[in-house]
Amino acid sequence: MKILYLYIVFTLLISIKMNVFGLLYGIRRGRLLNRILSNSNPLMNTLAVKHRCINNKTSCQDTSDNVGQKYVKLCTTAADIEIFGQNLGNIIDIGDVLLLHGDLGAGKTTLSRGIITNKLDDMSARVTSPTYLLDNIYQYGEDKYIHHMDLYRLPNNSDLSILDIPNIYNKCLCIIEWSQRIDKTFYPVNYLDIKISIDNNTENRMITIIPSASNQNRLHDKLVELCKM
Ligand SMILES: Nc1ncnc2c1ncn2[C@@H]1O[C@H](COP(=O)(O)OP(=O)(O)OP(=O)(O)O)[C@@H](O)[C@H]1O
Ligand SMILES: [Mg+2]
Repeated sequence: MKILYLYIVFTLLISIKMNVFGLLYGIRRGRLLNRILSNSNPLMNTLAVKHRCINNKTSCQDTSDNVGQKYVKLCTTAADIEIFGQNLGNIIDIGDVLLLHGDLGAGKTTLSRGIITNKLDDMSARVTSPTYLLDNIYQYGEDKYIHHMDLYRLPNNSDLSILDIPNIYNKCLCIIEWSQRIDKTFYPVNYLDIKISIDNNTENRMITIIPSASNQNRLHDKLVELCKM
C-alpha cells in the first residue's frame, strides 16, 4: 500500500514537472514569458543583461509640408529591408535616434542589421536581436557607439534611466525596437520614427519614416533619395 502511495505521488510529481516545462517552453516561444518576467521585475531583467560587442519597388511621398512628412519605401524581401538599412546608415550618425515600430517579425532587427553592418563597415558582422539583452552596444570609428535596443520586455512607462536613457541620445547612434514603450519623460526631442507594416497577403513590408521637425529639415533631400533607391 505504502509503495503504491509513493508510486502515485512520484508519478504526479513527474507529470507536474513535465507540464510546467511544457508550459514554460510554450510561453517562451510565444514571448509571453517576457511579458510576465518584465511585469514582475523589469529592473532585474534590465540590469542583468547589458552586454557589449566591440568590435524593388519604391514609392516615395514627397509633399511640401514640413512637420510630419512621410517617406515611404516598399520592400518585398528581407534582403530589401537590410539594403534599405545599409543605405539609411549612410545618412545617420551620432546623435540620431531611430524609433522602430512594427509587429513581431515585421523586420525591425533586419533593418537594424543593415544600419549596423554599414556603420561597422563589415557586412558579415553578427547583429542579433537585443530582445533578451535589451541593449547591444557596437563600437565603430574611433570612439563611436551604436546602442541597439529592444524594449519589448519592458512594460509601458518603465524607468529607462537604467539604460542611460535619455543621456545617451546625443552621445551615440540609438536604434530602439518597440519604442512605443518609451513614455514622454524619456522621449527624444529629435528622432526618426520608423514604422514597418506587413501586407498579410504578400508578406511585403512597407517602411514609413516620419522625422521630427529638425531632422525633417536636415534630412529631407537624403530621405527622398533614399526612398527612390
Ligand atoms: N518582405 C520581408 N521583409 C522583411 N522580412 C521578411 C520579409 N518577408 C519575410 N521576412 C522575414 O521576417 C522576419 C523579420 O524578422 P525580424 O527579427 O527582423 O523582425 P522584428 O520586427 O525585429 O521582430 P521582433 O518584434 O520579434 O523583434 C525574418 O525572419 C525575415 O526573413
Ligand atoms: Mg527585433
